[in-house]
Amino acid sequence: MIEPLSKLPHVGTTIFTTISQLASAHNAINLSQGFPNFDPDPELLKLVSEAYKKGNNQYAPMQGALSLREAISEKIERLYGTYYHPESEITVTAGATQAIFTTIAAFVHPKDEVIVIEPAFDCYEPAISLFGGKSVAMPLVGNDFKMNWSAFKSAISPKTKMVICNTPHNPTGTIWSKDDMLQLQEILRDTDIILLSDEVYEHIVFDGKLHESASKYPDLAVRSVICSSFGKTFHATGWKMGYCVAPKPLMREFQKVHQFNVFSVNHPLQLALAQYLNDSQHYLNLGGFYQEKRDVFLNAIKGSRFKMVPSAGTYFQLLEYSEITDEKDTVFAERLIKEHKLASIPVSVFCKSDYDKKFLRFCFAKTNDVLDKASQILNSI
Ligand SMILES: Cc1ncc(COP(=O)(O)O)c(C=O)c1O
Repeated sequence: MIEPLSKLPHVGTTIFTTISQLASAHNAINLSQGFPNFDPDPELLKLVSEAYKKGNNQYAPMQGALSLREAISEKIERLYGTYYHPESEITVTAGATQAIFTTIAAFVHPKDEVIVIEPAFDCYEPAISLFGGKSVAMPLVGNDFKMNWSAFKSAISPKTKMVICNTPHNPTGTIWSKDDMLQLQEILRDTDIILLSDEVYEHIVFDGKLHESASKYPDLAVRSVICSSFGKTFHATGWKMGYCVAPKPLMREFQKVHQFNVFSVNHPLQLALAQYLNDSQHYLNLGGFYQEKRDVFLNAIKGSRFKMVPSAGTYFQLLEYSEITDEKDTVFAERLIKEHKLASIPVSVFCKSDYDKKFLRFCFAKTNDVLDKASQILNSI
């Protein structure tokens, strides 16, 4: 047996896999992993099957099918007022995960520091480590997970190469306001720091609020690689389709890595998505759709002992359980699966820095019958 020298010695199986396995072993309702338990729109499925049948089954251009890049460019300009050139500033990727990985690969050099706002989605840190970078955790503060902008400013050093931010935010369901974006813009002004803006939940924002894309802020846009996910937007996480946009000099470097990483991604899916994007209702209705699910879930558990601040975006809801137990979140999450047959994700797994809050994350991208069953369990605890 060969025992290779691990490049990621501290990385094991992801918590999502571990929890899902435990959930299935205990026949638990699974609100842990972030994906819908329903299919994409039949109209999109029809476009996909037509695209396969029309003989588009060979390599797409490296940057992505032009029709899809054009549709992405139009969408961003219409929503956020910034034009990204389809020829040179947009790349279609194998999900946002690949866009994030490739961005980190393209820009982070050994010993560079990358500020990661925590709790953070799990794919950032391993990629930073792989390329010799050092992640610097910037914890969100309080039970409402707000940014401490003066602490953020102090964390910036001459070694800071990149900042990774994520709004709407997984796992907390918070969104950044215009004021947050202006603070970020001000702090990064006159630096060479690259912003990796993870905006995969850009279309899942509630209660009449607006998504604050980095592309809306000129001094952020010039330094930003912005990542998005068709998986999240069109209930098709299994397709692993996403994209990123960035100004030309950044996108040129991104594509140098992308072309040797995947070269190009699923061609028929790209052509179908290009057509589907032409009707803006397909993504503009998404916030209302998930807001209804959030409300079904929250109304059903309002008599429970869990405390909650309604999620402002994403399809995740945090529940605070300090009235129920003092247990650490990982212990309580495991007990919830084994004793009550309900799976969630403990928020501490999204943190490298010290974290001892009492929150579990529940995914409400589920049909109402599943949300009902989960609510009954939560009410009984
Ligand atoms: C914040 C965040 N970023 C990126 C991703 C990855 O998106 P994709 O499935 O398109 O790779 C996810 C998926 O859960 C996520 O929650």
